[in-house]
Amino acid sequence: MCGIVGYIGQRNATGVIISGLKRLEYRGYDSAGLALYSSRRQALVRVRAVGKIAGLVSRIETDLPDHADPDYTLGVGHTRWATHGAPTEANAHPHLSRNGEFAVVHNGIIENYAALKERLIRKGYIFTSETDTEVLAHLVEECYEGDLHCAVAAALEQVEGTYGIAVVGSRHQGLIIAARKGSPIAIGAGQSEAIVASDISAIIGYTKQVVFLNDEDIATITAETLDIASLKNVPVSRALTHIDSNLDQIEKGGFEHFMLKEIHEQPQALANAIRGRLLEKDGTTRLGGMQMTSAEIARISHISIAACGTSYYAGMVGKYLFEDLAGLPTDIEQAAEFRYRNPIIEPDTLMLAISQSGETADTIAAVREALRKGATVLGICNVVGSTIARDTGRGVYLHAGPEIGVASTKAFTAQVAVLAMLAIIFGRARRLSGSKGRELVRELTRAPAIVAAMLEEEGAIKVIAEKYARSEHMFYLGRGYMYPAALEGALKLKEISYIHAEGYHAAELKHGPIALLDEHVPVVVAVPDLPGKSKTISNMQECRARGSSVIAIATSGDDEAISSCNDVIRVPRCLEFLAPIPVVIAEQLLAYHIARFRGCPIDQPRNLAKSVTVE
Ligand code: G6P
Repeated sequence: MCGIVGYIGQRNATGVIISGLKRLEYRGYDSAGLALYSSRRQALVRVRAVGKIAGLVSRIETDLPDHADPDYTLGVGHTRWATHGAPTEANAHPHLSRNGEFAVVHNGIIENYAALKERLIRKGYIFTSETDTEVLAHLVEECYEGDLHCAVAAALEQVEGTYGIAVVGSRHQGLIIAARKGSPIAIGAGQSEAIVASDISAIIGYTKQVVFLNDEDIATITAETLDIASLKNVPVSRALTHIDSNLDQIEKGGFEHFMLKEIHEQPQALANAIRGRLLEKDGTTRLGGMQMTSAEIARISHISIAACGTSYYAGMVGKYLFEDLAGLPTDIEQAAEFRYRNPIIEPDTLMLAISQSGETADTIAAVREALRKGATVLGICNVVGSTIARDTGRGVYLHAGPEIGVASTKAFTAQVAVLAMLAIIFGRARRLSGSKGRELVRELTRAPAIVAAMLEEEGAIKVIAEKYARSEHMFYLGRGYMYPAALEGALKLKEISYIHAEGYHAAELKHGPIALLDEHVPVVVAVPDLPGKSKTISNMQECRARGSSVIAIATSGDDEAISSCNDVIRVPRCLEFLAPIPVVIAEQLLAYHIARFRGCPIDQPRNLAKSVTVE
């Protein structure tokens, strides 16, 4: 996600900020920028660029030839991962106030920015970006009466939402103001210098002495001093922490691989995916990016989903959700097939294109084909401003944060959450009652907690993984909502462990593949306490009768499947429509630990690419 670096001290600030931003590159971003105080001009200068830091560096070399001068000793920089507004230069941070005297870099989301923006526009402030952050820069100007700390505090008093910010002002060449609420800020205190950053990886090349801000702290930072106060200006003291870890450990948040980090980020990713979107009282959800009126929603009579890979399996869960909750006939097709098969698109068809990256070539082509045929197309993407998001012009972002591990994890669970929210909207326009809607929405609010409880099973899963790590073939079975979950489980395993794995419908196995079962072929069966469980237990018996070991993924506290399996992975109880989420997380952890025992290069599996931009 976005990254912040600020510097004040004796060194050239450009160099420190650029090297700090490079340290934050691993988090994923789509544009970058910095603002420096120029003592020669007695003003702030700003350079921004879309794309990688290398692009920003060449812009700095052209636009700011004196950037290496020793008198540039104050500045703030940012890497932006677009949320409000596409990744353009105008939307890149830092944002400047109307008079150019204040520069702000911000991580987080200002939830009431639209109302603040409207008020500021009425007062004559001119906005040059589509971001929520720009309101902060103008608010600081509006509140400024000679004291930068007071101006930032007064601006933040008006803000709802989350922020980690760093602010500099052209009349305060020895000062950075930083603040946090829900988005981390760390301050490195060096010898006559200080570095502010959203992540210590940008700091520890300079100092290992770091102070972490708490929510609603505002820090007044000079090269020599650090004063922290509450929003109400009551001084607070925060301990100095000595950082021992190395950079690699930090970038992966202490996890051995990005994939594991991303698996563990799922409670937060889901919280972000549902934030501000659930209307519990009305038993429905709100997804502004759909841009469809209630009448248009009610008119849809058929849904067509196109996607690839893991996104395709999320789409399969979507089929169950739309048919089950909304009674809407739904087709799901691999995007490569959709684009060439001359799909039937009626005027009342809604097409959903699901893609984490928004850049998968086949999915892009499917979108263009559907648009050509006059379909209404919604993109369900994680990467803001990606091609599919732009081509469709409407849709729903996952807000799951950058996914770096090639094997998709948190994007899948966020996709299922988004599809569930969509299915509730369509359901409420059709046959879903208010009380059922409220029950489903309440369950969605529990999703982050369900996932957190699932992650606690990791130790037990690791033990099972070790037992089966030497297998050469494995099967994954499920029925109903567990069928796509079984397919995704098999995909995860083959992607990162190179074990040949096949996902099958639990009942379909006996129509052929059962011939492959013997004592060397373990079978993972998703069998939570949901409709169809007893039939799946019979299928487990069929596997055991052929000598296969069965690993059951079963609901905590439900022992019915136990006598038919060799090992059990426990998943928290939840309503059926969300059950693929904890089950797939169990499968992600199983695949991860098996691959780890086999010594596989988990984040970059052979032959695979994170984003497949060729047919
Ligand atoms: C590649 C990745 C998969 C991903 C698929 C679709 O194959 O390795 O992890 O599921 O592309 O990607 P998308 O970005 O469209 O979701």
